[in-house]
Amino acid sequence: MVARVFVSRDLPGKALQRLAASADTQIWDQPRPPSADDLIAAIADCDGLLCMLTDRIDAGLLNAAPELRVISSYSVGVDHVDVEALNKRRIPLGHTPHVLTDATADLTMALLLAASRRLNEAEQFVREGVWTPQQRWEPSMFLGRDMRGANLGLLGLGPIGQAVARRAAGFGMRILGWTPSGRSVPYVDLASFDEVIEQADFLSLHLALAESTRHIINAEVLQRMPRKAMLINTARGPLIDESALIVALKNKDIAGAALDVFEQEPIAGDHPLLALPQVCVTPHIGSATWNTRCAMADLAVDNLLAGLRGETMPHCVNPEFIA
Ligand code: DGY
Repeated sequence: MVARVFVSRDLPGKALQRLAASADTQIWDQPRPPSADDLIAAIADCDGLLCMLTDRIDAGLLNAAPELRVISSYSVGVDHVDVEALNKRRIPLGHTPHVLTDATADLTMALLLAASRRLNEAEQFVREGVWTPQQRWEPSMFLGRDMRGANLGLLGLGPIGQAVARRAAGFGMRILGWTPSGRSVPYVDLASFDEVIEQADFLSLHLALAESTRHIINAEVLQRMPRKAMLINTARGPLIDESALIVALKNKDIAGAALDVFEQEPIAGDHPLLALPQVCVTPHIGSATWNTRCAMADLAVDNLLAGLRGETMPHCVNPEFIA
């Protein structure tokens, strides 16, 4: 019998055509994402689900889908999935590591440079017509910070953290890194968590979100960072306690932040972080290049099809729980 699958958003490239050639494929086609109820209704009689990081996958959803036997997430991070609930049903979970490493590392560098050279403030200055004959070029206009010789602190040294380290080495930065595994990687001087946060001029987060890492950047950590430090986050919003970050930025305990991810996404337009000029923001676009998003779609489809055939997925999060 042909497997039934639901895909919770249309994807760039041709991967979904390939999926449709092998499975009875329904694709969510509304402009807004499916709500939890929409998802429950859509997967009631499905064998497979290809979901996004914006879909919450929990026991309640699984209970509503008795036939469901494979889930593939169009993301490397799987903090939106209750993996234990999947393990109880022996449902394999696919994800998309490696293919988005370079794009995410590139965005990290873009944010690092944007923060250090005050690009958002400078752009606003030009767009708002403040750069006038009365206010011409001046020697001290928008002075930023140098990359060369600055300390880059990395929390998390997986593929993305390592790719950032390679890029930062080219900028002449000194790179200090901490990873829970303690495993050393090229270009990085391994250091303790305390050494990294206390010495970093730029601190960039590359950790998965888990209970142990939620709010790893909190009021106490922010207090111990140098006052000139800038915080970069392209990983997951809840790694940072945003309320504490707002206080630290307002008190000038740290100099700035460049954030692609937030505790609540989308961040509200009137969120206090957005009122701070020393904060540069983007809307969770770390992997958003055409080639990367097509490669993610291919890998997510490969994972789903392998799981439906009962084969090992190219990238499975929970292989040890699958019979
Ligand atoms: C992921 O895959 O987890 C990123 O956050 C989005 O590509």
